[in-house]
Amino acid sequence: MSKKIRLGILGGGGDSLIGVLHRVASHINDNYQITGAVFNPDFDANMAFAKEIDVPTNRIYKDFDTFVEEEMKLPKEERIEVCSILTPNFLHFPMAKKLLDNGFHVICEKPMTTSLEEAKILQEAHKKSGAVFALTHTYTGYPMVRQMREMIKSGALGKIHKVDASYYQGWINTIIHDQEKRSSVWRLDPKKAGISSCIGDIGVHAFNLIEYTTGLRIDSILSDFNYLYEDNQMDVDGTVLVRMDNHVKGLIRSSQVATGEENGLSIAIYGEKAAFKWEQENPNFLYKLSDTEPMQVYKPGHAYNSDLSLGGTKLPPGHPEGIFDSMANIYLGAAKAIRGEKYNDGEFPTMLDGVRGMNFIEATVESHKAGNIWVKLES
Ligand SMILES: NC(=O)c1ccc[n+]([C@@H]2O[C@H](COP(=O)([O-])OP(=O)(O)OC[C@H]3O[C@@H](n4cnc5c(N)ncnc54)[C@H](O)[C@@H]3O)[C@@H](O)[C@H]2O)c1
Repeated sequence: MSKKIRLGILGGGGDSLIGVLHRVASHINDNYQITGAVFNPDFDANMAFAKEIDVPTNRIYKDFDTFVEEEMKLPKEERIEVCSILTPNFLHFPMAKKLLDNGFHVICEKPMTTSLEEAKILQEAHKKSGAVFALTHTYTGYPMVRQMREMIKSGALGKIHKVDASYYQGWINTIIHDQEKRSSVWRLDPKKAGISSCIGDIGVHAFNLIEYTTGLRIDSILSDFNYLYEDNQMDVDGTVLVRMDNHVKGLIRSSQVATGEENGLSIAIYGEKAAFKWEQENPNFLYKLSDTEPMQVYKPGHAYNSDLSLGGTKLPPGHPEGIFDSMANIYLGAAKAIRGEKYNDGEFPTMLDGVRGMNFIEATVESHKAGNIWVKLES
């Protein structure tokens, strides 16, 4: 029998943005076999896509409930072991909860749920299940992001003073200025996206990147949103001041109306000895700045990198790997956990990252709505 982990896909159909990233990532390290799916709520589209990418049609189900019901009838050694949830946000919670309750492992897209309350219920379900839960904050899979984390942990920057993470996109410009268009996109519909668009979709990645790399917790925030139009209920731009443990201060700048910006996630972390700067669109260059020495550039695959970073490269230095590999590294970490193998802390974002993320999203909305006040995150 195949040693590959049997993977089910929920959402991520041929019409989706993120499906291809997960499908390719799941194949990259030869750990998973896509065994069944509900790619799309339309059964014909679901079947047609399964045929197109050669997934056996006998395990393509008409909807999620049928998926669980039919898979549970199969003997454990044939049943799908882990499911990737790649649907619009409002389906993450009901799907993840039912999967965990029925003993499936879960790989879930962010934001984990649509509220902190749901996130906490999911956390309890996860504890009871003993299953693996991985949250796909994609950017934590990059070797140079992992290198930042490990070097900061070993004191390369000294005491951290300031963090500045920015996630700028411009794609909503093509939608937001037209009333009909802006009411037809799920990311601007609170019933499907949750309480936030910009912070929920991308600001939360910046939040996670700060906590992942610094190892510090954001303690409180103050936010200011822009909705651009009176009838638009969702933020499309948000600036957030952050206060962290140990007198660290900083900001998270995120926007979906930053004209001309593509997927501009970047982070700068300033410490007493040195600083790091990294940009998602050039992910293989990590810059270390100093007041007394020339700037250094760290690159993936070199022996000077940490084990966590080196575990995320497959080819020798100078063979650029990118976002597919970054997501593949998260799938690789999850595969090790599913198989009960040893893995390093930081190989995949966890349930705790999901709960923290939902706490952050809710706090930013609360802060903005209450007139830009400081809001404390739960510890
Ligand atoms: N990690 C990242 O960097 C990243 C990037 C983009 C999107 N995302 C997240 O991925 C998720 C999906 O985003 P997207 O941009 O791919 O959305 P999308 O609208 O492009 O695709 C959603 C897919 O889900 C399917 N779907 C909808 N309802 C379904 C149902 N009831 N059952 C099964 N399938 C269903 C749709 O048919 C479609 O294939 C969102 O939660 C988003 O936040 C994460």
